[in-house]
Amino acid sequence: MLGKTPMKLLLAAAALSLLATAPQVRALELKASRTSPFDLALTGKLAGVAPGETRYVSWSEIRALPTTRLMLDGEFVKGSQELTVVFLSDLWAALSVAPGADALFATCGDGYAGIYTSAFISHYRPFLVLEINGKGPGDWPPPGLTFNPAPYVITVSKALAPDASKFLDIEHKKPWGVQKIEIASFGESFRGIYSGKWADPGPAAVAGRDIWLNSCASCHPGPSGIFGGTKSERPLPVIAAYAAYDSPFFMKYVRDPKSLVASAKMEAHPRYTDEQMAQLMAFITIGAAPAP
Ligand code: HEC
Repeated sequence: MLGKTPMKLLLAAAALSLLATAPQVRALELKASRTSPFDLALTGKLAGVAPGETRYVSWSEIRALPTTRLMLDGEFVKGSQELTVVFLSDLWAALSVAPGADALFATCGDGYAGIYTSAFISHYRPFLVLEINGKGPGDWPPPGLTFNPAPYVITVSKALAPDASKFLDIEHKKPWGVQKIEIASFGESFRGIYSGKWADPGPAAVAGRDIWLNSCASCHPGPSGIFGGTKSERPLPVIAAYAAYDSPFFMKYVRDPKSLVASAKMEAHPRYTDEQMAQLMAFITIGAAPAP
């Protein structure tokens, strides 16, 4: 039956039920230690949580927040599937967020990361997937999927945000295997690449910085400990050396790493235009020594 309900209708109903429950969002109970592999780790700017400390919230606690059911096509497995989700905005509302926090960083078990600003959260409406066809992460992967996306997936849907597909690196906002969420201040976390030699870098480098944050930072840490994924051990200064000394190699590597290094683990980025590659290079090579 459900599969035959027109999606628009279902989404409209979902939006209404969300509105009805939103004012009652209650605070999540945070625990000092992990009790299950399905607990979500929380760090960062949370009231009563010292910097560097981690708290844990159980799957069932999150499941008790206002949820929405979405019928989506091909999200995890072929065909239509029902997802039970919590919007990141509702998760945020259920946390005692400390003043100044305006961004959320999600980190996966393999070091992959996703950066969500408050503007992104309100515009693209990313959500945490709690159930696929009524089954929670303890019963994942769903039949037909070989990679287990547990414990959490964050994703966005063009059914909710039609312009999501136009966002250059939207795939990087859909991490699987999310284990940890950090509540952060964007300005504080990334001050290092918005100040000093990066304070006023010109329009090309400004656009390149967005590409770095929305794509490369999913796997490459920034300079001097600035947030980024740790899937790659090469931080920004190493990447900058490639771009500064051998830009043809750099461009080819970013677009198709396997064409240069057969065993490369980095995914290809074939969609970047020459202009976007130039923007990326303008950003990452700022302050790098010129080619000898
Ligand atoms: C999905 C994770 C991932 C993303 C996203 C990613 N990289 Fe990588 N990158 C890696 C890994 C892992 C390596 C290490 C070599 C390998 O195993 O492929 C690497 C290596 C590189 C290298 C070669 C460095 C070396 O020492 O060989 C360059 C250059 C590079 N990345 C640039 C970029 C840029 C620019 C972006 C953003 C457009 C980007 N990467 C996005 C994972 C990623």
